[in-house]
Amino acid sequence: MSPIKHVAIIMDGNGRWGLKKRKSRNFGHRAGLSTVEKILEVTIKKKIKYLTLFAFSTENWKRPKKEIIFLFNLLEEFLINKIDNLKKNNIKLKIIGNKKVFPKKLIKILDKSENMTRMNKKLQINLALNYGSKDELINAFKKIHKKKLLINKKNIDKNLYTSDCPNPDILIRTGDTKRLSNFLLWQIAYAEIFFVNKLWPDFTKNNYTLILNKFLKIKRNFGSI
Ligand code: IPE
Ligand code: IPE
Ligand code: MG
Repeated sequence: MSPIKHVAIIMDGNGRWGLKKRKSRNFGHRAGLSTVEKILEVTIKKKIKYLTLFAFSTENWKRPKKEIIFLFNLLEEFLINKIDNLKKNNIKLKIIGNKKVFPKKLIKILDKSENMTRMNKKLQINLALNYGSKDELINAFKKIHKKKLLINKKNIDKNLYTSDCPNPDILIRTGDTKRLSNFLLWQIAYAEIFFVNKLWPDFTKNNYTLILNKFLKIKRNFGSI
């Protein structure tokens, strides 16, 4: 078992990458998918159990409709092409975020992909879609209130979308900005954070491996000495 149990990634920089290549922002989104596949390979090889990927935030609805639709179509295409592979490779896909508002066709594919892989054990991918940490926390508090439970750390943990995972050991953000953009605010209280200058489509297996190795050398105190 790897000492790294959970890696979370804010995959940022696709749009700028597409424009830098004198193509469209959407061209960058497609290129970003190849990076996802490469990162998956390394994650499996390193025997990491949980990978959380930020793919669409609750704030991303502010983008042009054309870009949003492109992202949804890309996701559909990815799942249709890859879900059998995920299943075969013992990978579980879980959506975190509110998927109810997505187009019906997409919801169906998301549900099917989750169902097909639900018993898988090697790696769990949490795909954050229409995800916002503040919404997630509000939801958790509502559930706790409804169940008449105490507000404490354990009950908050148990009522988040990530109730079935340990907290991330590592948070990576590509794209040369140092902010969290409403991602896993509760869960990353003690994560080691790596901000990477590279745009997501340029992020390589080697960049990722170096971060994982660097993490292993960090002394984590959790408040102790
Ligand atoms: C990808 O990067 C993240 C998504 C919301 C899909 P961006 O689309 O934010 O790319 P930049 O940051 O504008 O370059
Ligand atoms: C964060 O990236 C969301 C995802 C990677 C899905 P954004 O590009 O939306 O973040 P901001 O708006 O620049 O903070
Ligand atoms: Mg961005």
